Amino acid sequence: MTKEIKRVAVFTSGGDAPGMNAAIRAIVRNAFNNDLHIYGIMRGYEGMIDGNIKRLETSDVSNIIHRGGTMLKTARSQRFMTPEGRKLAYENLVDSDIDGLIAIGGNGTFTGASKFMEEYPDIPIVGLPGTIDNDLFGTDFTIGFDTAVNTAVQAVDKIRDTADSHNRLFFVEVMGRHSGFIALHTAIAGGAGGVVIPEEEFSLDDVVKLLKRGAKRSKLFSIVIVAEGNQMGTVYDIAKQVEEHIDFCDDIKVTVIGHLQRGGSPSSFDRVLASVLGFASVEALLAGKTGVMAGLRNNNVHYTPFTEAISKSKPLNKDLLRMAHILAQ
Ligand code: F6P
Repeated sequence: MTKEIKRVAVFTSGGDAPGMNAAIRAIVRNAFNNDLHIYGIMRGYEGMIDGNIKRLETSDVSNIIHRGGTMLKTARSQRFMTPEGRKLAYENLVDSDIDGLIAIGGNGTFTGASKFMEEYPDIPIVGLPGTIDNDLFGTDFTIGFDTAVNTAVQAVDKIRDTADSHNRLFFVEVMGRHSGFIALHTAIAGGAGGVVIPEEEFSLDDVVKLLKRGAKRSKLFSIVIVAEGNQMGTVYDIAKQVEEHIDFCDDIKVTVIGHLQRGGSPSSFDRVLASVLGFASVEALLAGKTGVMAGLRNNNVHYTPFTEAISKSKPLNKDLLRMAHILAQ
């Protein structure tokens, strides 16, 4: 028999992502719509371990849909990786009579949730993909990805002015610890001269060939997008190695966009995605679902078990990659 859900707690965990607030808002509002009591756990699993759990009212989520970051704060909890940490977290949830959880985060968040559910299966958990990396299997897009790409593209547009004015070659590093989604989309939208991502083996020769191809048609500047998790090394290493083989431009520069990509007002796409998935997650809990991540597949809400979301790698669109290489000429 499905357990009756009356008191639900929501938390954000791992790296913040633009749109997390929009998701919290949708969860709180739909919880009220279903006469649930809704709680916020501060700083993810850290707050669960410390008992930092507070009641939320609908007014608490007014005026947050447009804000980046997360009103519930976040953390990458080391303590939750230990059985002692998880036991403390469970005891605090029981003390607060929490009978359902909604977790917003990425791979680490769902790895923690899976472990917790193995030990304490009586508290159902539904997840929402909140990470700029877009690297979760089971959803076409994660909350925050679209905004991060837009931020990176704005930066590339600005760098292009200097690259063009000075005949410079720029290597621009974007985030993506294990995945090239941000890099690939930024390269396409930013009209880059090349893209280096973790999913593809790329050598120094390949990069040089690519740049010389552009130089052949008198291209005096170029911008190459490098994902931080690429197989060639740091963006500085790549720039240094390439320097000795290139003579078509006046200078080589490196820009690391870094955490600029994680902040800022979420795009309308991320706000809608977060609202749809946040809304769905409450209904999923009420319908008795647990251990699943609510994602979007072909524009429909789809539930993927945490175990699959974290163990299967999300394939990069090979056609998009091939196109990016061709358009980079
Ligand atoms: O997972 C999101 C992400 O922004 C990655 O792209 C990046 O590698 C990592 O988080 C950085 O994490 P932190 O902010 O903890 O250094």
